[in-house]
Amino acid sequence: MPNDTTSISEKRITAIYPGSFDPMTNGHLDLVERSVRLVDRLIIAVLRNEQKQALFSVDERMQMVQDVVSGIPNIEIASFHGLLVDFAAQCGASVIIRGIRAVSDYEYELQMALMNRRLSPDIETVFLMAGEAHSFTSSRLVKEVIALGGNISGLVPRPVEVRLRKRLLGEQ
Ligand code: PNS
Repeated sequence: MPNDTTSISEKRITAIYPGSFDPMTNGHLDLVERSVRLVDRLIIAVLRNEQKQALFSVDERMQMVQDVVSGIPNIEIASFHGLLVDFAAQCGASVIIRGIRAVSDYEYELQMALMNRRLSPDIETVFLMAGEAHSFTSSRLVKEVIALGGNISGLVPRPVEVRLRKRLLGEQ
């Protein structure tokens, strides 16, 4: 008969980290590294959204994520469409991870978290704060800066920078 300590230590937590990841930034990577310290299994889930114009296809985005996180254990990469909470349930995930950079993120994230809680009360959203070095990094701004000839080194992982340069600047 397990005592309380055993049952707590045997509880395995699967978390899902959803997003567009178009493309993954160092801010996303920072969140992934923080998350894997907290949970047993982390699923990075790329949204398949036909309505939203993306720079990279879902397969390209998943490949970039794979390239970037390949050295980190206990991570899986998936794509999903439809309701996030339905996909989380399919994966056996009890936690949704989202990052908060600044106060401006809070309102949108709170709305999503409360809607997801209403849809699925058993799934908890956990907000993590990205390191302060990433507080101004976003996929949208990174794409804008590189397209206009700015320097994005340090803002995205190297394999992502290479792909961005090819896609937006035509580099080989
Ligand atoms: O990186 P993003 O674009 O901020 O991620 C947004 C994402 C993928 C977390 C959000 O759009 C989402 O969960 N979409 C799935 C649709 C859904 O479940 N909507 C209702 C709950 S808000």
